[in-house]
Amino acid sequence: MIESKLPHVGTTIFTRMSSLAHECGALNLSQGFPDFGAPKPLLDALVRRVSAGHNQYAPMAGVTELREQIAAQLVRYRGVTCDPDTEITVVPGATEGIFCAITACIHPGDEVLLFDPCYDSYEPAIALAGGRAVHLSLTPDNFAIDWQQVGDSITPRTRMIVVNSPHNPTGAILSWDDLLELERLAELHDLLVISDEVYEHLVFDGQDHHSVLQLPALRQRSFAVFSFGKTYSVTGWKTGYCIAPHGLMAELRKVHQFVCFVANTPVQLALADFMAAEPDYPGTLADFYQAKRDLFCQALSSSRFNLAPSAGTYFQLLEYSKVSDTPDQELASQWTREIGIASIPISVFYQDSSPGHYLRFCFAKNDDVLLEASDRLCKI
Ligand SMILES: Cc1ncc(COP(=O)(O)O)c(C=O)c1O
Repeated sequence: MIESKLPHVGTTIFTRMSSLAHECGALNLSQGFPDFGAPKPLLDALVRRVSAGHNQYAPMAGVTELREQIAAQLVRYRGVTCDPDTEITVVPGATEGIFCAITACIHPGDEVLLFDPCYDSYEPAIALAGGRAVHLSLTPDNFAIDWQQVGDSITPRTRMIVVNSPHNPTGAILSWDDLLELERLAELHDLLVISDEVYEHLVFDGQDHHSVLQLPALRQRSFAVFSFGKTYSVTGWKTGYCIAPHGLMAELRKVHQFVCFVANTPVQLALADFMAAEPDYPGTLADFYQAKRDLFCQALSSSRFNLAPSAGTYFQLLEYSKVSDTPDQELASQWTREIGIASIPISVFYQDSSPGHYLRFCFAKNDDVLLEASDRLCKI
């Protein structure tokens, strides 16, 4: 037997809850993926590209057409430019981009600040690099970053901060002032930043997504990571991209070329075709998902759950202290079996105990599924 390098890591909660949902025939509002199709022209583009023979290795950094489209979108949606040759790498999923950025930069003993509840792929990557994850908690009331606490937690070993906005699992978003504070601390302490922005286009109520790429000094020390899976409803295509300044990107590519080497060729070309033909598509997503959020929240208005509508992502937290005092992991399994709705318990995203009784529901689902789920939840 080998000594595990990740002794505390099991199968992710997403896989566990999705397979329980499948086993029980439950409505699956647990894992973050849509139950509706991707845009038809995007699917057609993939068929065309496969049939036309684009089935061999792509260039290591990604096909040129796609990197050019990514750069054009960055101008269109965030008002900033980047060099597609040296600053963009297409990766097989944001998860791989994050893994490569951490592996490239973290040395044994380095500390990385994470904010709980925290997406579960960050810490294993830090541990495998020999680093130490230092967990701070988002504020219990509105899931914001306590910058005073961040400043107090920085030590001479701190090398990196990982932020995620819009935030999975809470749906909170970082403000411009948050990014200014991040920039100030990163500069003061010479820190690197990973900014997980996979839900960048899912920000509601007329608010804007703020990217680390929009602050010139912050950008110089940041890896920003994105996912086509989230934007184009193709999570199973596992394709995303990372944007970073040349020096950081060169280091990321050294790792990427020996982890996966390249992302999938026809998928990249199909995405490039669709982005060129329909550059406005990402701009339609906020209204589309906001309508789903509102449908779900309104249908739950007569329930006994407390909820603050999500500011972003396609997740809604329900606070259930008036309904049950069962711990969330137990309750999520129980409700999957007994009322046929699968959700994600958020305590699994905390190193220490979570602040309350929350379950996360994914509202990237057809309206009839959302209405059926809320009907069942209202009866509890
Ligand atoms: C916050 C966050 N980061 C990264 C990812 C992974 O994205 P990908 O499927 O492109 O690897 C997800 C997927 O759920 C996510 O929620």
